[in-house]
Amino acid sequence: MSGYHGWNTHRASCLLLTCFMSEFGNQSAIVYVRNYKKLKITVHPDNATVLEYRRFTFHCEANGDSPIHISWFRNNSRLPKKGQNFKVVKRTGALKFFQVRVVDRGFYQCKAENGKESVLSETAYLRVECKQTTVPRYSFNLSLGVAAPNGCYKS
Ligand SMILES: *[C@@H]1O[C@H](CO)[C@@H](O)[C@H](O)[C@H]1NC(C)=O
Ligand SMILES: *[C@@H]1O[C@H](CO)[C@@H](O)[C@H](O)[C@H]1NC(C)=O
Ligand SMILES: *[C@@H]1O[C@H](CO)[C@@H](O)[C@H](O)[C@H]1NC(C)=O
Ligand SMILES: *[C@@H]1O[C@H](CO)[C@@H](O)[C@H](O)[C@H]1NC(C)=O
Repeated sequence: MSGYHGWNTHRASCLLLTCFMSEFGNQSAIVYVRNYKKLKITVHPDNATVLEYRRFTFHCEANGDSPIHISWFRNNSRLPKKGQNFKVVKRTGALKFFQVRVVDRGFYQCKAENGKESVLSETAYLRVECKQTTVPRYSFNLSLGVAAPNGCYKS
């Protein structure tokens, strides 16, 4: 029982195998530690450039003790499970946009949590390009209007 108690009190500050082995020099503690899988993100979201109104999916996968819960952040703010044009797919943890909008551009990260640990993915940037109109996308011409960020030029 005390091995289990040790786990509870030390898990926050002492997550590594070697740490546990020196903390409890007995077999049962070691067996318990061997069953423990450190939470790790195995698939990180990738930088992407997407045309406005297209579909797009960011992927995120993690490995560790289950159940693993995946959530998403945009510019460091947590996204809800479901938005107007996206949802987090419960089974895979992917962030799926039905129609990418210019306002969706930004920095994305996924976070995996399992009640014992939480890890953040690398940061991926989503760049959104406007649908091509009569205005040439890469012509800088002040008389045609302002250059919006991310290659979207609107007059
Ligand atoms: C492990 O070893 C410690 C220290 O020797 C002992 O107090 C504890 O009861 C042992 N844990 C188990 C689960 O046997
Ligand atoms: C995304 O792009 C940034 C800047 O170009 C780069 O530093 C970063 O490593 C890229 N991230 C991924 C996941 O490829
Ligand atoms: C996120 O940050 C980027 C870069 O600062 C900015 O262009 C974008 O509008 C922001 N997106 C949101 C949704 O706040
Ligand atoms: C902008 O485009 C207009 C029409 O094509 C052209 O007459 C004008 O000279 C251009 N201005 C600049 C600063 O390039």
